[in-house]
Amino acid sequence: MQQYLQDIADRCGGTAGEVASYIPELAAADPDRFALALATVDGHVYTVGDAEVRYSIQSISKPFTYALALADQGAEAVAEKVDVEPSGEAFNEISLAAQTGRPRNPMINAGAITAASLVRGATGEERFNRVLEWYGAFAGRDLDVDEGVYGSELGTAHRNRAIAHMLREYEILEGDPEETLAQYIRQCAIAVDTRDLALMAATLANGGVQPVTGERVLETGSVERVLSVMATCGMYDAAGDWISTVGMPAKSGVSGGIIAVLPGQVGVAVFSPRLDAHGNSARGVQLCERMSRDMEMHLM
Ligand code: DON
Repeated sequence: MQQYLQDIADRCGGTAGEVASYIPELAAADPDRFALALATVDGHVYTVGDAEVRYSIQSISKPFTYALALADQGAEAVAEKVDVEPSGEAFNEISLAAQTGRPRNPMINAGAITAASLVRGATGEERFNRVLEWYGAFAGRDLDVDEGVYGSELGTAHRNRAIAHMLREYEILEGDPEETLAQYIRQCAIAVDTRDLALMAATLANGGVQPVTGERVLETGSVERVLSVMATCGMYDAAGDWISTVGMPAKSGVSGGIIAVLPGQVGVAVFSPRLDAHGNSARGVQLCERMSRDMEMHLM
């Protein structure tokens, strides 16, 4: 396995794409960093490259916060606020369903901000602390925040701020939209490495039980729902292409990470900061396509 991962990393090189620049701190990322990690449901972790270099989790946070909202509120209450339909639009699209005002799914920013508001807690800080602990349970270690990324994004989040206020106007958000916005941006700035992400993905692959600690983090029913939304919406307006070629539930982030989940078997994480036009890691997508083909990981 180790040799195969090294080979595929060597074969799927390339310098296509651009590092995200709308968050100033991300623009400074080394575009050539690369890591690949694979964690099995019985707790073996294989890594290649800079698997212990940390970066902000960004949108890979979204399925995990959605999972916490489901655990806290139940599927029905969550569905009243955020739908599960693919939007076919970019991750930061300012769009809500016409009749209900609901965001179309929890993987685009509008839906993810909504999911963050559904985490139990009296204040944004209390909710955030629960989110931080929750991600740590998936990763199997305590995590913390990259304050530089947090400050940098909060200061320039005009688009997400507009989305949060629009959600408040439609009463999808009920509290102070600025508080929820800050909580969401802070969750995106939680620092992880590629090994952490592989273990977080492997916890989903393992039906909600963390493969190394043995802790049951999430109920099986919620795992199914989270994986379904990842499969249909996790790669945004490239979701159809991804599910056709790679065939696994997945989630990307603008810092350059991608996770993919093969239920009952493995969690995969890849990190390469250059992004394609959809905001997904260009080398990450290429590598996952190749790996899925080689190892027959396509679920369909
Ligand atoms: O809200 C944002 O725009 C960022 N914090 C996260 C976006 C993101 O990672 C999109 N994914 N590829």
